[in-house]
Amino acid sequence: MKFFIDTANLDQIKEAQDLGILDGVTTNPSLMAKEGISGEDKVIAHYKAICDIVDDNVSAEVIAVTYDEIIKEGEALAALDAKIVVKVPMIKDGIKAIKYFSSKGIKTNCTLIFSAGQALLAAKAGATYVSPFLGRLDDIGSEGLTLVEDIRTIFDNYGYPTQILAASIRGPLHIIACAKLGADVMTGPLTAILGLLKHPLTDSGLATFLADHKKAAASITQQ
Ligand code: G3P
Repeated sequence: MKFFIDTANLDQIKEAQDLGILDGVTTNPSLMAKEGISGEDKVIAHYKAICDIVDDNVSAEVIAVTYDEIIKEGEALAALDAKIVVKVPMIKDGIKAIKYFSSKGIKTNCTLIFSAGQALLAAKAGATYVSPFLGRLDDIGSEGLTLVEDIRTIFDNYGYPTQILAASIRGPLHIIACAKLGADVMTGPLTAILGLLKHPLTDSGLATFLADHKKAAASITQQ
């Protein structure tokens, strides 16, 4: 399972990269705004800074919503670095643009997926990734994980190479559930990734090991 971090915060991206388990980064206009990144030059510089930190897979989202504009913006983003994946919204012009990008060998991430039908369309258009938003479905009382399960079944039925990128992950339990369902990738905040480290029995077990080691060392010194 690939691990992407869902942030535009450079410190958090570096922390996850330093951990040695990071496969990529996803951003969106809201995450860029949260870091105070606005204006074309700053946005481009920020994507380049992210590409300098990670090994591959940097999703950069287009703002355009019409076919011609999505193509123009997406090609400019893709030209920034070979690591860029053009993130395109799940709309009619977005699907057409994904088909075009696919024919040109440009990697895409179809975002804002909330139904299996949307994922199927994106796969048929040749998307590299589809991003079902689990947390946001959970927020409205729908089953985010069921969507991942349905997309997995459909993609496996037909052998679509499009990868399922489970997005809008809220915590470690989401990551584990997505891994069990066979999501190819998960993107989540640093807190969700670090949450996988935690177990109280690990903490108490380590404390006991260290205390026993200290006691044994002290008894040797006394002899
Ligand atoms: O990057 C897209 C997605 O992961 C957004 O997550 O937490 O804003 O629902 P969230």
